Amino acid sequence: MRVLGIETSCDDTGIALFDTGAGLLAHRLFSQTELHLDYGGVVPELASRDHIRKALPLIRRVMQEAGTRPDQVNGIAYTTGPGLAGALLVGAALGRSLAYSWNVPCVGIHHMEGHLLSPMLEPDPPAFPFTALLVSGGHTLLADVQALGCYTILGESVDDAVGEAFDKTAKLLGLGYPGGPAIAKAARAGNPEKFSFPRPMTERRKTQGAHPGLDFSFSGLKTAVVTAVQHQRLTPEFIADIAASFEEAAVDVLVIKCEWALERTGAKQLVVAGGVSANQKLRQRLQRLSEKLAVRVCFPRPEFCTDNGAMIAYAGCMRLAAGQREPLAFGARARWDLEEIGAVKA
Ligand code: KG4
Ligand code: ZN
Repeated sequence: MRVLGIETSCDDTGIALFDTGAGLLAHRLFSQTELHLDYGGVVPELASRDHIRKALPLIRRVMQEAGTRPDQVNGIAYTTGPGLAGALLVGAALGRSLAYSWNVPCVGIHHMEGHLLSPMLEPDPPAFPFTALLVSGGHTLLADVQALGCYTILGESVDDAVGEAFDKTAKLLGLGYPGGPAIAKAARAGNPEKFSFPRPMTERRKTQGAHPGLDFSFSGLKTAVVTAVQHQRLTPEFIADIAASFEEAAVDVLVIKCEWALERTGAKQLVVAGGVSANQKLRQRLQRLSEKLAVRVCFPRPEFCTDNGAMIAYAGCMRLAAGQREPLAFGARARWDLEEIGAVKA
């Protein structure tokens, strides 16, 4: 089965073709970073309009690079949500229309399921069941993954997502958008122990509540950075020290929660995905944790940590191959709980 994947949930137009036999045939990404640069964040209406401009030419290009004609495509997958409503609707309308005209089935994919499955695109992929840490600009969550579509949330952020904390800290330091890579770069020259920022919700291990001990909070960390930066001159050395100390605190929190989650589930595999999983410090620290606990840790390659079409093509291919079919009507879900999506209904 050969599936075309379309990702338009935020500021990246991602297109890919995945084949159950041959694997990933081709993938292309158009990043809108420059378009939103002057605004310090994504402007939803500009994002939707640019997806409209870029998606079809990218599809043509991916099809050409994969040497695939429309009659060789067996299905289409697009991101239904969560994300920016207008941007999502572009992908949904395009996916459903192409599927109608090519007379192939089409499925809507949960963006975080795409991230969760992205390490499956690597050689020697993990196998179900596993524990997953998903860290992106909009989400920070730990999940117990039993099978395709069977996800139990073990913990999630009660306020800011970790990627959002990276972005806000970068903005504060005048490092631009997206903040994650900029903070990581600045941190290389800094001292991670210069400022002792808080590691929220790690001091005491809570035993009560919906997700005992495994929820996250990043707004306190952000506030601590704001306080440290106030009335200070932003010299390169100061920026580097703040960036390094912030990164150290954020990574510490994620590593501690992963250890607690793995203790809880007893899983022997940890999957880490989403934009922040591109962070080298996080990858190194989780690698060390995996050695300590004798657990295998799996990451996507850096280009598939952030948003991309390949993960949507892969997730769509798995769902279509398992027999999922959907009616022609479509919509978008700006907010969507990962636990709601459920297993494949053939
Ligand atoms: O998964 P993603 O591309 O989009 C969402 O679904 O949100 O994640 C984007 C987030 C941004 O907040 C960005 O700053 C962060 O991932 N990010 C990083 C790194 N690369 C991207 N954070 C830390 N270190 C990085 N190297
Ligand atoms: Zn994402």
